[in-house]
Amino acid sequence: MMTEVVAINHLQKRFGKFEALKDITLTVNSGEVFGFIGPNGAGKSTTIRTLLGILKASGGSATIFGQDVWTDAVAIHKRLAYVPGDVYLWPNLTGGEVIDLFLKMNGERHSAHTDELIKLFELDATKKCRTYSKGNRQKVALIAAFSSDAALYVFDEPTSGLDPLMEEVFQTQVLALKRAGKSVLLSSHILSEVERMCDRIGIIREGRIIETGTLDAMRQLSRSTVRVTTTAPLADIAKRPDVHQFKAEGDHTATFAVDSENLGAVITTLTGLGIVTLQSTPPTLEDLFLRYYNQGGEHDGQ
Ligand SMILES: Nc1ncnc2c1ncn2[C@@H]1O[C@H](COP(=O)(O)OP(=O)(O)OP(=O)(O)O)[C@@H](O)[C@H]1O
Ligand SMILES: [Mg+2]
Repeated sequence: MMTEVVAINHLQKRFGKFEALKDITLTVNSGEVFGFIGPNGAGKSTTIRTLLGILKASGGSATIFGQDVWTDAVAIHKRLAYVPGDVYLWPNLTGGEVIDLFLKMNGERHSAHTDELIKLFELDATKKCRTYSKGNRQKVALIAAFSSDAALYVFDEPTSGLDPLMEEVFQTQVLALKRAGKSVLLSSHILSEVERMCDRIGIIREGRIIETGTLDAMRQLSRSTVRVTTTAPLADIAKRPDVHQFKAEGDHTATFAVDSENLGAVITTLTGLGIVTLQSTPPTLEDLFLRYYNQGGEHDGQ
């Protein structure tokens, strides 16, 4: 049965007069990896800090496991693992000691899985934390989180300091959590990471959620790029209202964008013109993101 692990309802957060969160509504279901994306300063970390009970909301509500994030923070934290983008560690403890400390704070123990993660992330856990690079500090927090048996994992740009090999290890571990039926809230600027792992995505901009849904559904709302060569001239295609950014290369070849819901109709028309070659590319997450980023979620223009 699908249940709501995280439920955020019209959440607001003001810092003095500044409204960092204006209206955030989203849910993360059990067994789901939810991607939280949006430009710098959009309010992702503020939303996450409110969920963790670090910040108190100015309006609206948020629950985790059906419990209020502010009043029931202690109970919630027993079943939650969190990794921020900039990890603070005790400088005089070794990485291994900090991992064990994190685990202990969650009422857990160092296990064989912890050792396996230390190997996978190639961390020298015997070194003092003060000697660690940003990526290594990140690994310490990730190892502790992945070796915790939590119900919800919250990652706020967890891989900002990791190299591509370690990014791959991170993704493999998140996919393992997903297979184990855990829930994950992942804020990220690495769109390939989001694309590969997330069941649903929420796009936040200036303190508001401007779109949520599956990546497929978002692609449906958008436009595909078509490149076509036909035997008959293509000029009339440019006049269609569902065709945009028409760029001709001579009379018989053109590249243009088509509203995804009308792709079939456009291709039917092209078939009438005698298709020689046809290539259709759905929008990438980058395309979608740039569009939302620039226009605040309006669906006109591109
Ligand atoms: N403690 C604070 N006091 C005042 N303003 C704050 C505070 N924390 C965050 N803000 C402001 O709230 C807005 C949202 O910040 P937040 O850190 O949530 O963005 P973000 O989406 O996580 O961005 P990034 O992708 O850069 O991490 C920003 O304008 C930020 O300056
Ligand atoms: Mg942030």
